[in-house]
Amino acid sequence: MKIAIIGAGSGYMPGVIRGLLHRADDLAGTELAFHDVDTAHLDVMTRLARGMFSARGAAFTVEAHTGLKPALNGASYIFTTFRPGGLAARHLDESIPLEHGVVGQETAGPGGFLMALRSVPVLLEIASAADPGAWIVNYTNPTNIVTDAVARTTGARIIGLCDQFIGDTEMWADLLGLPFEGLEADWIGLNHATWAQRLRLDGRELDVPLLLDGLEVPGDGATPWRDPSRMAELAKALGFLPNSYSKYYFFHDEVVGELRAKGTTRAQDILAMLPGYYEQVAAESRKADPDPSRERGGGEHGEFAVDVICAIHRDEGRRMIVNTRNGGAVPSLDADAIVEVPSLVGRSGPVPLTMGALPGPVRGLTQAIHAYERLASEAAVTGDRRTALQALMAHPFVRSKHTAEHILDEGLAAHRAHLPQFG
Ligand code: G6P
Ligand code: MN
Repeated sequence: MKIAIIGAGSGYMPGVIRGLLHRADDLAGTELAFHDVDTAHLDVMTRLARGMFSARGAAFTVEAHTGLKPALNGASYIFTTFRPGGLAARHLDESIPLEHGVVGQETAGPGGFLMALRSVPVLLEIASAADPGAWIVNYTNPTNIVTDAVARTTGARIIGLCDQFIGDTEMWADLLGLPFEGLEADWIGLNHATWAQRLRLDGRELDVPLLLDGLEVPGDGATPWRDPSRMAELAKALGFLPNSYSKYYFFHDEVVGELRAKGTTRAQDILAMLPGYYEQVAAESRKADPDPSRERGGGEHGEFAVDVICAIHRDEGRRMIVNTRNGGAVPSLDADAIVEVPSLVGRSGPVPLTMGALPGPVRGLTQAIHAYERLASEAAVTGDRRTALQALMAHPFVRSKHTAEHILDEGLAAHRAHLPQFG
């Protein structure tokens, strides 16, 4: 069995390697093809993986590739975890919208739209070079737009991943005073726009409205990943649990003010820490038993991806929250929409579970986000400027044709080198 990892120089790789170690027995004998365009980072992660596998006696082989074709050749699973243009491009995604009074964010809104325009052509190239029957297990963002573009326009099999629901469930366990272990939330909707009305602890259904009645809104305590105060405030208004990214929709103007006052983008903050991070990982990779930093992707990220591959490969029929074709799972969204829902994952891929309608207070918003995403996916595939403009005009953050035009013109110019479809 061969797994290709595209973007294997990513800072998130130590977590992926840990995830592979976690399932080393189930995947024994697997050949790993690491691919990246950044050879220095690829070298570090290749040496690290070999070191960690040999220290723990894991039966994996690792080959490093800079050419896409040889990496993909013969791969049954293609794990995609790259960012075209790297963090320099992310900085532009985060700063261009902000100059026009719109939240500048990696995946949500116009920033995510610009990333979709860069990510989709690369995924389409991968899909067309993949062996027939291979599974693309995709983390490249925006994960559901990428998944939609590949699923709609190629014959490739793709499943979209995001581990946000794990961190969010953990945040809600903290807020509600529940143990995280054994807590399960039915997050449904669209990637980075999911909602949970149902919570179970050790399989027992909890009374969510009652829990929210008793919830006290904590003071500030926001980190780059969590904003518990705003999440609690929102949940009390909505009557169910919101995903962390909902703050960009329901506190849009406040967040614009905060992002402007902050002065640096998240991409710049990460760029500032990355050299030290890679140095630490490189130093560990030379040790007999490497223990690399968990500063990037240190949580469940890597384990989740490897668990998804195992669920398909071993036909586990395991319940997992993934991005896949809706069918009738969430009747409030189009049947052919890519939705994020609890699914049973086995040999034929994810089978979404019937979840029922989206809750009224966010139904229209989620439908609007889907309308935007479909237009964004089409624009990213075709390179049609008018469709791209319509996508931005449809996004709930934007609400202005002229703002959409300014962001589009600046974004297309800034990212020209990564947008072959726009000529
Ligand atoms: C979460 C999201 C990912 C996103 C990441 C950004 O994990 O689910 O989709 O890419 O946050 O984290 P960062 O540390 O790069 O800002
Ligand atoms: Mn995500």
